[in-house]
Amino acid sequence: MVDQVTINYQHFFQKLLEAAPWPVIIVDRNLSIRFYNQLAVHLLEATESLLGVKLDQLIQDQAILQLVQESILSDQPRKGELVKTNSSTAWKVSVTPLEHAPQKVENQVQRESIEQLAQACSYFAIAIEDLSELRRLERVRRDFITNISHELRTPLASVRLLAETLEDAIDTDRDKAQIFLEKIETEVQHLSALVSELLELSRIESGLLPMVIEPVEAGQLVREIMARMLPQAQRHRLTLRTEIQDEHILVAADSKQIARVLVNLVHNAIKFTPSGGTVTIGTVLERGGQTQRFFVRDTGVGIRPEELPRIFERFYKADRARSKTDFIGPGGGGSGLGLAIARHVVEAHGGRIIAESIPGQGSTFRFTLPVIVPSNS
Ligand SMILES: Nc1ncnc2c1ncn2[C@@H]1O[C@H](COP(=O)(O)OP(=O)(O)OP(=O)(O)O)[C@@H](O)[C@H]1O
Ligand SMILES: [Mg+2]
Repeated sequence: MVDQVTINYQHFFQKLLEAAPWPVIIVDRNLSIRFYNQLAVHLLEATESLLGVKLDQLIQDQAILQLVQESILSDQPRKGELVKTNSSTAWKVSVTPLEHAPQKVENQVQRESIEQLAQACSYFAIAIEDLSELRRLERVRRDFITNISHELRTPLASVRLLAETLEDAIDTDRDKAQIFLEKIETEVQHLSALVSELLELSRIESGLLPMVIEPVEAGQLVREIMARMLPQAQRHRLTLRTEIQDEHILVAADSKQIARVLVNLVHNAIKFTPSGGTVTIGTVLERGGQTQRFFVRDTGVGIRPEELPRIFERFYKADRARSKTDFIGPGGGGSGLGLAIARHVVEAHGGRIIAESIPGQGSTFRFTLPVIVPSNS
């Protein structure tokens, strides 16, 4: 029977270090490492034990070393934010002296000697917080605001201009006035489409648009999209075809949302494929029949490798000049939100969407959904 619980403090202390969300290194006054956690091992890319190693042999960054030295000399905490020039890396470093306070002091002499000892034995905890992700999010937010202002201001400016011209033409030239009215209507339609896409995206992002997941026949869904998009493809003199591996596969999906993803992918494919090209919507079974892959392939202009990783970002439009000019309103295209919405919808289903492309030859977008295996019982 255990009648007294004794704590193994060294073990407990190490666990405490591991619980810290950042890399932590504890050094003595001579900069020798006394304790550290696994996150520090990752950060320093160390392959051997760090115990007893001098900090200045591991960290070359003079700003960090200076912060530690300042704390050691002053016995005061120090904090600093370090940004690496020419890279997006940013760290918040804090150095905190850890004194060994004597527990019980019998007399003055003993207290002084203990305090001296404590001074000599002081350790310094260095916590290194990686701010890169935070900085990236701040940049995304800034870009978002810049983009949205631009996207809203451009059509608004043309509506204003058109309204002014309409004012001049309304009494003198009825036909001209009619044309301006129609142009205003197109701009306003574009604006409201943008605003609803934005609202939709924000609802999906914040989880306010619940997915209604039910069994959906993949083959049938693809055929429906084909029927919906055929007139558009024909108008642009493109061949639209399907390539369904297995007609009766059931996937777990919100059919309305997945239909919207496919419509957007096909819409993009039509937009970026010159007349005479082919767009294929298809399905393939993967992972031994556990997942169903949907794909939309085109023989269009393609996407440059450096742009591929960015096309799923909100508002990102690769090379604006390439899309067809007679498509959805002015400027030859949409607002660059379609793929951002598609990614969120697919991820809300637990899937992933990827794009592959060879410039000049075409692009393929793929995403997967879980297959519902019919139970035999
Ligand atoms: N099939 C494709 N071929 C070539 N480029 C593509 C294709 N699909 C997407 N892109 C590129 O990715 C960008 C982002 O696509 P996304 O669907 O998000 O926006 P959009 O089509 O421009 O506007 P929206 O979908 O909001 O109407 C496009 O502007 C285009 O540059
Ligand atoms: Mg689009």
